[in-house]
Amino acid sequence: MTTERTLILLKPDAVERALRGEILRRIEAKGYTIVALAQRTATAEELAAHYAEHEGKPFYAPLVEYMAASPLVAVVAEGERVIEGFRSLAGTTDPTTAAPGTIRGDLGRQWDAPVLQNLVHGSDSPESAAREIAIWFPELG
Ligand code: TYD
Ligand code: MG
Repeated sequence: MTTERTLILLKPDAVERALRGEILRRIEAKGYTIVALAQRTATAEELAAHYAEHEGKPFYAPLVEYMAASPLVAVVAEGERVIEGFRSLAGTTDPTTAAPGTIRGDLGRQWDAPVLQNLVHGSDSPESAAREIAIWFPELG
């Protein structure tokens, strides 16, 4: 068994489109445990830390602006290989080509919106998960 924790964000488009329940249902139905959950408007400091790896890329400024504009839901989920498992549930970054059956593939986005509105974030490695959980839930660190 490799029980892990991962940091998931239900992005502002998931909140605005009332898809929180549908996305959390998929996480729980897969067998993962939700160990922490908080809805709030992200601060600039949280987003700068969270997306530090993307600083300087063309989509960085629109991404952090969009993520700060309205509330998101931060989630810590736990389970067997949940880091890889949630990335698989989420689907590839661009909802246009994300596989059917995935969150991004099934629920898509508003098609006139940029690709950064892709509903969810999931940590991509154990190191990222530990770093990101400490940003959003310092009490779990
Ligand atoms: P990234 O970490 O590469 O994707 P993922 O969320 O699948 O791990 O990028 C972070 C976010 O930045 C991504 O969810 C959406 C946005 N983004 C763009 O808007 N355009 C892009 O070309 C890329 C790569 C990402
Ligand atoms: Mg990423």
